Amino acid sequence: MIETLLPEEVRAGEAFGADGSAVLHPEEAVLVAAATEERREEFTTVRGCARRALAALGLPPTPVLPGKRNVPQWPAGVVGSMTHCAGYRAAVLARDTDLVAVGIDAEPDLPLPRGVLESIALPQELVWARTPVTGAARLCRDRLLFSAKEAVYKTWYPLVGTELDFDDAALSFRTDEHLPAGGPRRGTFRARVLRPGTAPDGRPVTEFTGRWLAERGLVVTAIAVPARRAA
Ligand SMILES: CC(C)(COP(=O)(O)OP(=O)(O)OC[C@H]1O[C@@H](n2cnc3c(N)ncnc32)[C@H](O)[C@@H]1OP(=O)(O)O)[C@@H](O)C(=O)NCCC(=O)NCCS
Repeated sequence: MIETLLPEEVRAGEAFGADGSAVLHPEEAVLVAAATEERREEFTTVRGCARRALAALGLPPTPVLPGKRNVPQWPAGVVGSMTHCAGYRAAVLARDTDLVAVGIDAEPDLPLPRGVLESIALPQELVWARTPVTGAARLCRDRLLFSAKEAVYKTWYPLVGTELDFDDAALSFRTDEHLPAGGPRRGTFRARVLRPGTAPDGRPVTEFTGRWLAERGLVVTAIAVPARRAA
């Protein structure tokens, strides 16, 4: 599912429930030794996803440990992102010669808890998110907005290395037309970043474009930032 939102150079692993065959490295296991069973399971399953993505890139199954501000630490030359929510876990990876950053997020396609939308949305986003979408294209716009902002953060932070608040990015969405009734709904989004930031290659980071998908009771968002190619 997640691969359909990302360029072909990206490798992904995903799971729609617990993966009993996923195993932690000892240095990973110690991090969740005192965690709840639920946290241990998602942490383990998503690392199983990451190891499948590493294998698809031709890389060994190294541990995936949290770094500064919990950013997952990938092998040299690799960028990636991970997400987990009820009923879904995914990891995506790419060579840094193809992408300079990638960020993904998944959420249940359900309304946000009361009060959350107001705390994450800019005025224009609030108007859009409060417009209900019914019929074949039914979708919880508030949850899509939240997921896309999380994907923005997961792309931004490893790339720029500074914090980004919910009101630091202004999002707008498009929905693909002519989708078959009852099938997945999908589209694109644009995030204008309202705070200055610079990528390690010196590029100013002012906006991201992403893709979204609503399917199987989930809302999934993904952003990929291409590497600058030599002319
Ligand atoms: C860190 C955060 C983005 C995680 O999102 P989430 O929806 O709660 O959780 P998900 O399951 O989708 O993702 C969790 C994974 O994100 C990754 N992650 C955590 N911190 C990260 C960071 N700073 N940068 C990139 N990825 C990060 C980790 O891989 C983590 O999985 P793990 O703990 O098993 O290693 C979120 O908790 C957060 O702090 N948000 C506030 C900042 C923000 O979103 N600002 C909006 C800007 S527009």
